[in-house]
Amino acid sequence: MTTPPESLTIRRPDDWHLHFRDGDTMRAVVPYTARQCARAIVMPNLAPPVTTTALAAAYRDRINAAVPDGIEFTPLMTTYLTDETDAQDLAVGHGDGVLTAAKLYPAGATTNSAHGVTDVANIMGVLERMADIGMPLCVHGEVTTPDIDIFDREAVFIDRILQPLVDRLPTLKVIFEHITTMQAVSFVESAGPNVAATITPQHLHINRNDILVGGIRPHMYCLPVAKREQHRLALRGAATSGSPKYFLGTDSAPHHRHAKESDCGCAGIFNAPFALESYLQVFEDEGALPHFETFASLAGPAFYGLEPNEERVTLEKRPVEVPATIDGGEAEVVPFHAGETLNWQLVS
Ligand code: NCD
Ligand code: ZN
Repeated sequence: MTTPPESLTIRRPDDWHLHFRDGDTMRAVVPYTARQCARAIVMPNLAPPVTTTALAAAYRDRINAAVPDGIEFTPLMTTYLTDETDAQDLAVGHGDGVLTAAKLYPAGATTNSAHGVTDVANIMGVLERMADIGMPLCVHGEVTTPDIDIFDREAVFIDRILQPLVDRLPTLKVIFEHITTMQAVSFVESAGPNVAATITPQHLHINRNDILVGGIRPHMYCLPVAKREQHRLALRGAATSGSPKYFLGTDSAPHHRHAKESDCGCAGIFNAPFALESYLQVFEDEGALPHFETFASLAGPAFYGLEPNEERVTLEKRPVEVPATIDGGEAEVVPFHAGETLNWQLVS
């Protein structure tokens, strides 16, 4: 007699931060997310970036065309804020349901952020309008001044930019994305209900040693870069706490293998194919399986003012092997956990 595998059934999750890219790469990667999640907040850092409602609507249509037949998936679009963003275009796009949120990239912070905001003061009028209409702001929280060490960029961003912004616009909904430090956890804890954070699988699994010890590991490199172990532990505590202030945002960011294994390798980890499995392992290790549904499926919609998904998914405790590479359209991509065996598997 064999006992049935341990299983967990929850409402279908959503991914509140990821990168789909465009063209063949987009067509290759969209199905992985569509199989795991009902909705995803799609980042606008294409080249050139998605800076208007019209560009976001066209990008949404290209994504929809890449969703496999028979799968229900809704991309939730964002626009990329620049020093020149037109508040009226943003408000109309949000009112029409094209734009779910807007994204603040400090100029130069990460992949394709050269057109980002050079000073938050330049977009204060836009942010005030967003606060008025209830449009959430997604924030890449790192300063970019060269005098700040890369491992300190998030903590310094909180003091210099984020805390003053939240103090000035207390009604603005802010998602502090892909947090990587204990300082970010403390900030989110102390902030009001309009501030939440997403946490990636990689920042729950790896610390900076995994990038640098025994040889440089380009596929473990993303931004914000993974920090010391004490930060990883703080993130695991936050993600698995059951608090509605933290929710799933993979930051899945495919770069082709040759662009990562390079003299100047790109930042970004492609984790979409096994994202739920990766997160669930963390919740199991932390003895927090009952909190997984809050993190994956409930807290995000509640923060964004959306209904949670009605559909259910089931994960079973049976091993799954992550392939060494995945077809990324124009070239192969090395996924997060490549070659590893994970304990859980999404079965339906
Ligand atoms: C992202 C990308 O490649 O677009 N890279 C990353 O390391 N996370 C951009 C981002 O979210 O910072
Ligand atoms: Zn990202």
